[in-house]
Amino acid sequence: MRYVVTGAAGFIGSHLADTLLESGHEVVAVDCLTDYYDPAEKEENARGLDLLRIDLAEVPLDLDGVDGVFHLAGQPGVRSFGEAFPLYLRRNVLATQRVFDTAAAARVRVVFASSSSVYGEAERYPTPEDTVPHPISPYGITKLACEQLARAYGLDAVGLRYFTVYGPRQRPDMLFRRICDALATGGTIEIYGTGEQSRSFTEVGDVVAATIAAMERAPAGVLYNVGGGDEASLLEAIALLEEISGRPLDVRHVDRARGDVRRTKADVTRIREVLSWEPAVTLPRGLERMWSWASARVATP
Ligand code: UGA
Repeated sequence: MRYVVTGAAGFIGSHLADTLLESGHEVVAVDCLTDYYDPAEKEENARGLDLLRIDLAEVPLDLDGVDGVFHLAGQPGVRSFGEAFPLYLRRNVLATQRVFDTAAAARVRVVFASSSSVYGEAERYPTPEDTVPHPISPYGITKLACEQLARAYGLDAVGLRYFTVYGPRQRPDMLFRRICDALATGGTIEIYGTGEQSRSFTEVGDVVAATIAAMERAPAGVLYNVGGGDEASLLEAIALLEEISGRPLDVRHVDRARGDVRRTKADVTRIREVLSWEPAVTLPRGLERMWSWASARVATP
């Protein structure tokens, strides 16, 4: 098959593109290398890919001969109040509308990245997909807008609500990456609030498997939670990483961050029943893999 992967130099997109290539598919890797974090790191992620550098908010995708689009490009990060909102609008809502418009005309399936942040402080835990979404961050609102756009277009689209994804190549602004970097370099990390907030942390290999299964087997128009099996608080995750690395972490507590939810816990019944997917990587195993990558990276800059 010939697939487009947008955001192919990003954390999840680069793993997805690599896996598709290894499975014998053709990949059109699209990324405009925004400077949300160091583009050199994205180029490192995309080693081995032939990147097509286009801004999806401006340039339409060429979908001639394409069997499906994995739309993972976007402006990430839930702590999104303030000046950056135009970027969230442009890189999430506008770019996605353009991708959907082109895909609808070409009748090509789109699997797109949504987020657990659409739920906000969820009405119930574990949280199934039919829970009424109440995002509490501008970012979450733009992701919900993308889901609604897919619906409005009546597209052959599948939306994936990813839950706090981690693993090798995790973005440098995310918690586990900051912890690993601090453990490797002897630095300090700031914890927003008490550290008792918890997440359904999801390993990137599991996320890639769910994403490919969605392209290959999901019915059109469905949303799925893609969430890890192990819920952990930040303090529990820190203790695990201290144990794995054999080093103590220097932590400083600061105020809670606006837009941050207290808890996520995915109900993965739907994706298990329809796509036979469930998370396979436990948190201790996934963190070992992430620590190996992050510590080696710091050792050989
Ligand atoms: C992550 C991604 O950043 C979003 O792009 C994604 O959409 C979202 O998951 C999702 O699941 O929908 P988040 O859960 O905030 O968002 O992931 P992290 O940045 O790894 O943060 C996890 C927790 O650690 C949060 O409670 C955050 O407040 C805390 N944190 C993060 C700190 O205490 N200190 C830091 O330096 C970074």
